[in-house]
Amino acid sequence: MRAMQTTPLTHWLLYCRPGFEQDCAQEALHQARQQKPVIATQPPIIANSGYAAVALNEQALSYRELIFARQLIRLHQTIEALPERDRLTPILAAIATLPGTFGALWLEVPDTNEGKTLSAFTRRFQPLLEAALREQGKLQNDVKLQRLHIFFPDNSSALIGASDPHNSAAALMGIVRQNMPAEAPSRSTLKLAEAIDVFMDRSEQTRLLRQGMTAVDLGAAPGGWTWQLVKRGIRVTAVDNGPMKSVLAKHPLVQHLRQDGFKYVPRRAVDWLVCDMVEQPSRVAKLIEEWFAAGLARHAIFNLKLPMKQRVAALDSALNGIRSRLDHEGINYRMLAKQLYHDREEVTVFLTRTKSY
Ligand SMILES: C[S@@+](CC[C@H](N)C(=O)[O-])C[C@H]1O[C@@H](n2cnc3c(N)ncnc32)[C@H](O)[C@@H]1O
Repeated sequence: MRAMQTTPLTHWLLYCRPGFEQDCAQEALHQARQQKPVIATQPPIIANSGYAAVALNEQALSYRELIFARQLIRLHQTIEALPERDRLTPILAAIATLPGTFGALWLEVPDTNEGKTLSAFTRRFQPLLEAALREQGKLQNDVKLQRLHIFFPDNSSALIGASDPHNSAAALMGIVRQNMPAEAPSRSTLKLAEAIDVFMDRSEQTRLLRQGMTAVDLGAAPGGWTWQLVKRGIRVTAVDNGPMKSVLAKHPLVQHLRQDGFKYVPRRAVDWLVCDMVEQPSRVAKLIEEWFAAGLARHAIFNLKLPMKQRVAALDSALNGIRSRLDHEGINYRMLAKQLYHDREEVTVFLTRTKSY
């Protein structure tokens, strides 16, 4: 067993969708570089591992502004060559060196097939480690305290770190799980359900998604996103040349228009624009900015597909295009983007007009 001491650098551990490790690290380094130009070494990326690490000087990372990171953890210790017969002793010894006490203990694995096989071990290990930490006074029941994360990338190593509840995802492995509703027309419905949970807190959901509101869904078929809206009592114009599933085809709150989503213009402004059309991100971004500039929608959730190699650059360019247009128009807004658990080669964006004071 070898326990690496922390260096003066700050090491960060980020979880992400497997295959997006490079994007995740690249984006974190970019965020850090905007604060201070000098960056320390970049630990090697392990392709398809579901995590990335970055080492920074004094720069802080903001979880909410990271698109590809599912979770943001301050990494304190790396243990390699964990003995199979007694993982508890070295892990407890490493935790004893960490500053402060913790409000929760999260044992985590990568979101990969190997990770799935390790989760049987973490389920067995959790009560043992938890009991030992409580006895030592390292673990308390207090949601305001930092969380302790033990991440097992494989069955012989552990990465030990802490997350700040105000600067991280409040979900194990950074995954906000959704149950598939039996009556929903498509699995895409989970993307919008997750976006609503990730981007809006409960009070904002109640305020922004109310019965009697109106929405346009561009690229609506077969209707998973429309279904999420009508189940909240929102009247939806569903625009798609493809057919809507029968549960929505004759729904009193749904009007289906077989039109091109890039040409459709509503007669009256709507509360919500949602868009899941498979198109270039720059084209979708341009469409969204046109709707907002013309005052046609107050809030939007839209998906940007990223099948290209330079995903971070394509995404930056699309989002910066929206920002500069809305700034130019003098529109106040809040925009958040995330690669959701239910997103594949894509990210989801929430854009809302805010009041000017
Ligand atoms: C990923 S699917 C949408 C799934 C949908 N959000 C759901 O939850 O069921 C993309 C849809 O966009 C539609 N689409 C693509 N380009 C379009 C366009 N220019 N105008 C209207 N619909 C378009 C396709 O017909 C397809 O049904």
